[in-house]
Amino acid sequence: MDACERELIEKLEGENTLSEEEYVQLIENGDEEARELLALKASEKSKSVFKNAIYTRGLIEISSFCKNNCLYCGIRRDNTFAERYRLTGEEIFSCAEEGYELGFRTFVLQGGEDLHYTDDVLCGIISQIKKNHPDCAVTLSMGERSAESYKALRDAGADRYLLRHETADRVHYNTLHPREMSFDNRMRCLRELKETGYQVGCGFMVGSPGQTSRTLAKDLMFIREFKPDMCGIGPFIPHRNTPFAGEKTGTLEMTLFLLSVIRLMLPGVLLPATTALGTIHPRGRELGILAGANVVMPNLSPAAVRKKYELYDNKICTGEESAQCRDCLEERIKTIGYRLVVDRGDSVYYMENK
Ligand code: 5AD
Ligand code: FES
Repeated sequence: MDACERELIEKLEGENTLSEEEYVQLIENGDEEARELLALKASEKSKSVFKNAIYTRGLIEISSFCKNNCLYCGIRRDNTFAERYRLTGEEIFSCAEEGYELGFRTFVLQGGEDLHYTDDVLCGIISQIKKNHPDCAVTLSMGERSAESYKALRDAGADRYLLRHETADRVHYNTLHPREMSFDNRMRCLRELKETGYQVGCGFMVGSPGQTSRTLAKDLMFIREFKPDMCGIGPFIPHRNTPFAGEKTGTLEMTLFLLSVIRLMLPGVLLPATTALGTIHPRGRELGILAGANVVMPNLSPAAVRKKYELYDNKICTGEESAQCRDCLEERIKTIGYRLVVDRGDSVYYMENK
């Protein structure tokens, strides 16, 4: 690291922002020393806002049916090898119940864009979960929908919505997605989610095919401007039955580097140490926390379906039960000097504006 990179890191720490050109420079020239300095500053920043608390959300993967055909994703519609399943309302409620007993106060319902989940069906499920657990937050991660739909789901009780932007570069977006999907629609969804009053999460994969230091700099500029409540980033991992089967996996180093940069840009943002990060390195999630992440999302899906929600190859936690994942993560977090907290963990940005 030369004086120039050190200066950029100090500027980012002090001013929370860099120009697009400066991000490009930092991404292209950041070496191990720069990454270590960034991780140190980012974890200090995280501790100054959250102390040593790590928030936890229980992930329930409700359906592996998907009408979309994103080139990177293992449950894309053209993957005829993918085993499809859909949880019933009762199955979802019992996952939430089990999660509640284990101490979870946020449930994330995630699934492919499954046409079974009309607004009526999804609203029914959301309101029942809120009725069973009034002290819990419900987060949705169900893809692109209309403004009316987002509104109806919010009215039914959904508190938060995760929709990764995937890339802030239009041309790059089009190389990751089929023609029928559009960058503009993705951005519309994100905007409308915010306007509807959700706490919103965006994010992207690190090392997706076609990603460059320029597209990453654009991601960072977008994130800074959009100011999400949560930002989900994890390495791209190829899935054997997708067009990207032969592409390279995103690196641990770049993912940790970007987690640190995002923490310095948005000190209060919720930043998960993702399952994908835990998949590419045995201590990936711990390293993520040490680089500035402050959320973990253990899997609460029924053990019988876990292997079927396979977005990428070798996904971890597919053979475990909910309690095992919770205990495993609690232990991992303890060993690095942090503690798992059980409250809803609302976004500080959201609370400030309420
Ligand atoms: N590798 C890593 N992450 C993936 N996702 C989808 N496919 C992959 C993959 N092959 C991520 C996308 C999506 C989220 C639910 O999972 O970013 O938004
Ligand atoms: Fe699932 Fe460790 S978190 S096994």
